[in-house]
Amino acid sequence: MKRNLFIISMLFLMNGSVFSQLKLYGENFRPQFHYTPERNWMNDPNGLVYYKGQYHLFYQYNPYANVWGHMSWGHAVSKDLIHWRPLPVALEEEKGMMIFSGSAVADINNTSGFGSKVNPPLVAIYTGSTDTLQTQNLAYSTDNGVQWKKYNTNPVLNENKKDFRDPNVFWYAPEKKWVMSLSYPITRQIAFYGSENLRDWKQLSVFGPAGDTSGVWECPDLMKVPVMGQPGTYKWVLLTSQNAGMQYFVGDFDGKNFTNENPKGKILKPDFGTDYYAAIAYHFNPLGRPVSIGWANNWNYANEIPTYPWKGAAALPRTLQLKKINDTWQLIQTPVVALQSLRKQPVAYTNKKITKTTELLGFKGNVWEGEFVMQPAATGETGIQLAVGNGLGMTLSYNAATKQVNVDRSNTPDYFSAAFAARALSTAPVRLINNELKWRVFFDKSIVEVFVNNGEQVFTVQVFPGEENNGLTIFSTGDGAVFKRITIWPMKSIW
Ligand code: FRU
Repeated sequence: MKRNLFIISMLFLMNGSVFSQLKLYGENFRPQFHYTPERNWMNDPNGLVYYKGQYHLFYQYNPYANVWGHMSWGHAVSKDLIHWRPLPVALEEEKGMMIFSGSAVADINNTSGFGSKVNPPLVAIYTGSTDTLQTQNLAYSTDNGVQWKKYNTNPVLNENKKDFRDPNVFWYAPEKKWVMSLSYPITRQIAFYGSENLRDWKQLSVFGPAGDTSGVWECPDLMKVPVMGQPGTYKWVLLTSQNAGMQYFVGDFDGKNFTNENPKGKILKPDFGTDYYAAIAYHFNPLGRPVSIGWANNWNYANEIPTYPWKGAAALPRTLQLKKINDTWQLIQTPVVALQSLRKQPVAYTNKKITKTTELLGFKGNVWEGEFVMQPAATGETGIQLAVGNGLGMTLSYNAATKQVNVDRSNTPDYFSAAFAARALSTAPVRLINNELKWRVFFDKSIVEVFVNNGEQVFTVQVFPGEENNGLTIFSTGDGAVFKRITIWPMKSIW
């Protein structure tokens, strides 16, 4: 008895160290293989740069609270884009000027003069934001990105505008210069600037408005994306966010102008879900193609999601390629291969025929990856339901009449926000290939990412089911649906 008391009091003494560590990252809704900050608010990924064997992930971060405010750059690094090591806040708000979104580059030739040729600097280009003015600013690091100094003659670009933000810079090799994409949010335009030293910038051209102009334009990223199956062939892609979704344009960039090869009104979306925003990419990295990371959230309710003590997550890193489908170049997104290292022993099912029925599979879980190859019924809906329990569940289905995929969270808890409840259904047109539809689904406590037909269409959607809502069903409302293959891998935690 005495001994037990001793052990119990030791446990209390240890509280705050080992035991609170165990609890952190074990909270309700806490993603296990998506990056989240230990505590407090995050939004956009910033400064995605690969340098000396490390992927740097900076992100919009509030060091003081679990809601948006005091914007600073949080920081984490990874060797594989999956396991992240948190580092101290890189750039802090100063004298009322918040550090908004931006990018970072490895200035290998020391064009900025902030380092040396032997020890090149990492340079961050970010928006400094006050209530009345947004300007573009620099900061640099000469210790591989751990400590940062703000440039003493900031800003480097000021047009005396209240809305002028999210600089994204890359090296344009043919002309040996830096190119920056920057957003004029209100007029739905992206401006391009050129510089030889990262300090002096001249405007090259302005693109837009075009495509989806329903919300303010933010977070542009212009990059070269390889064409699938044609090594050495590229096209230029301009990714932008328009509150609260994303789009991309495909075309060409000649060092000055970006030309959209589609009609002005054409809208292409990298993600059809409710919760994907502000994605930018690692342009240069060992995978040989850009890798994007988005913020898995939506401004309409981001401050209200019921997670504590953190709010906001990075979506899974996706490699980007282009493929021509129905005469249009489309972005093909593939979760990075390293994710497969988290797979545990799989559970598999084959040739499951269902006709106007729902079948509960034996598998249960809320941290898994699944692959489903289905032949949908010729009528009605054929689908999958996850987070099943207590009469609730989230539905992923194909509708034979509309030829669309529906991702529907209306039958999951939404009590915390009317804006969340109002955005329950996400849809996208899809094609059947040999009468089959292929799904790759990631369910990570409160984030669901769905890749249809090997990344031709993607959905990122948040859900907040109870822990016990962890069942999985397949169903069809028409005749003759077959699930040819189902493989589910419970996933290891990265924490
Ligand atoms: C996009 C955004 C950016 C801005 C940042 C502020 O989500 O609004 O335009 O720089 O978030 O946190």
